[in-house]
Amino acid sequence: MKVLVCGGAGYIGAHMCRMLASAGHEVFVFDNLSTGHAYAVQWGPLVQGDLLRPDDLERIFAARSYDVVMHFCAKSLVGESMRDPGGYFRNNVTGTVNLLDAMVRHGTRNFIFSSSAAVYGMPHDVPLAEDHPTAPINPYGRTKLLVEQLLPAYDIQFGIRSVALRYFNAAGAALDGLIGEDHEPETHLIPNILRSVVDKHTGPLQVFGDDYDTPDGSCVRDYIHVNDIASAHMLAMDHLARGGTSQVMNLGNGAGFSVLQVVDTARRVTGKRIDYQVMPRRPGDPPVLVASATKAHTDLGWRPQFDTLESIVETAWTWHRNRAARE
Ligand code: UFG
Repeated sequence: MKVLVCGGAGYIGAHMCRMLASAGHEVFVFDNLSTGHAYAVQWGPLVQGDLLRPDDLERIFAARSYDVVMHFCAKSLVGESMRDPGGYFRNNVTGTVNLLDAMVRHGTRNFIFSSSAAVYGMPHDVPLAEDHPTAPINPYGRTKLLVEQLLPAYDIQFGIRSVALRYFNAAGAALDGLIGEDHEPETHLIPNILRSVVDKHTGPLQVFGDDYDTPDGSCVRDYIHVNDIASAHMLAMDHLARGGTSQVMNLGNGAGFSVLQVVDTARRVTGKRIDYQVMPRRPGDPPVLVASATKAHTDLGWRPQFDTLESIVETAWTWHRNRAARE
């Protein structure tokens, strides 16, 4: 199939492109390179463009037709979204509306959307199933929910069927260390732990809060390997190709690990000492986020391959060592 990967130069998008290409699909990348990297575009041509510039979209859609659009372009930092709500709404909501409208104009009818566990807000019950109330507590989560809420209208009116995948905590890297998580600044836990080991200038890891109502007081998250996220997209694409209906699904392993458990795991994987400082809570962090991914298992036949935290951290460690060696 011909797949347009918007955001294909980014962390998850690049792993997606690699998996698509190795399964024999044709990949086309659209990315503004604001957070993605040209070096990560290796599995199909890059058109540098921005969802907020309709002419850029027109250019990529006029060039050829696509069977599926996968949409990974988003600003995705909770704290930044609180400081810059307008930027988040423009980029994540208006940008997506522009993309959907271009799909309508050019007759592309299959859409896979990167949503987020951030749509749930503060959980009432864990694990979180898709029918848990959605009440995002930050602008980032609201932008993801707004797009989810727009998708049925595009389905009814224009026949654009979609799968919105609510990622929990994406982590890990390619097994061979070729691509991985490369954000600047980095805010995510696993890369920050590993950077504190490989980069002497980073200083000790900061642990945001040890007084949550969790077994060790630090926040609990469900870490899911980036390739397992990509494999769910492959299955979502098959689902749409078979004529399947629009869906919303969680992607997680269904197992929660606290920040301090992740630090311990990284200590075992790296064999290094990992110092940390306990800091105040980070605003907007729910204490526990763990997925029920039963729907993706049942409806897509999805089975994550990286089902231990060790295996996920090992791949991230390979990437961080490679990256440090290159610099
Ligand atoms: N954390 C630290 N120190 C760090 C970085 C993170 O203690 O240096 C903690 C955070 O406070 C949080 C946990 O580690 O408790 C995980 O934090 P991440 O930043 O790695 O991930 P988040 O859970 O904040 O973010 C993820 C997705 C977001 C999504 C959010 C939903 O990456 O896109 O879940 O809450 F919005």
